[in-house]
Amino acid sequence: MNEPGMFESKKVAPGITTLVSYLPIPGLGVLPVNAFVIQSKEPMLVDTGLAALRTDFMRELKSLINLNELRWIWITHADMDHLGNLEAVLAEAPNARVITTFVGMAKMGLQGISLDRVYLLNPGQSLDVGDRKILALSPPTFDAPETTGLFDQKTGVLFSADSFGAILAQPAENAAEISEQNLREGGHLWASIDAPWLALIDPQKFNNTLTAISDLKPQVILSSHLPVAAGMNKTLLDNLSEAYKTPRFVGPDQEALEKMMVA
Ligand SMILES: [Fe+2]
Ligand SMILES: [Fe+2]
Repeated sequence: MNEPGMFESKKVAPGITTLVSYLPIPGLGVLPVNAFVIQSKEPMLVDTGLAALRTDFMRELKSLINLNELRWIWITHADMDHLGNLEAVLAEAPNARVITTFVGMAKMGLQGISLDRVYLLNPGQSLDVGDRKILALSPPTFDAPETTGLFDQKTGVLFSADSFGAILAQPAENAAEISEQNLREGGHLWASIDAPWLALIDPQKFNNTLTAISDLKPQVILSSHLPVAAGMNKTLLDNLSEAYKTPRFVGPDQEALEKMMVA
């Protein structure tokens, strides 16, 4: 893969669909970039994909949901791989409100938009979407202070934002088909890029955050940066518990980049 690409959407749990895309990372592999639609009574979109794929993203999204009916757009955090099509979706979804935190609202420059289009939710708080409650939580790893994951208490699906992501050799249908070694090494590489502070942590304290996830007993983990992972809690948690041992990532410099471009 040389360019970002959108793949076919995939049903991953009852009433939950992933909008799948992949971003090539030169010299390293590919990064899944997922957004999700939850067909709750009050339908929700989780993150908004890559701006570079806007036409494909909007087409896939509209094939899943009538945007007039969309009520919630949960932005896990204000990175461009999560925000890419927010404006485009907001423009076509007049009844949708953006869920974020106070910091997220500031970072996205949403202060200017009407307050009835924003909804602030902190980790530990829940949102009632008609047929279920969605719990906001802090995922174990993150690259931005406003990050909130979410746990759908009806289906037991955990949306973990950047956490549990992995850089992969190639796209995959689901996390179970990735070899154990690739999943572990790709996960550690991603964690060393996305959460460089992991190298500084107290592993004992960090493990408490993993236990909190384990205690939720998610049926499925949906990371923004991993194919759907069903029944893989132990593997993913074990992998992340070791990620602090990977030195923080230092990317190619200009000279190395130019060599890569020639190659
Ligand atoms: Fe991020
Ligand atoms: Fe991300």
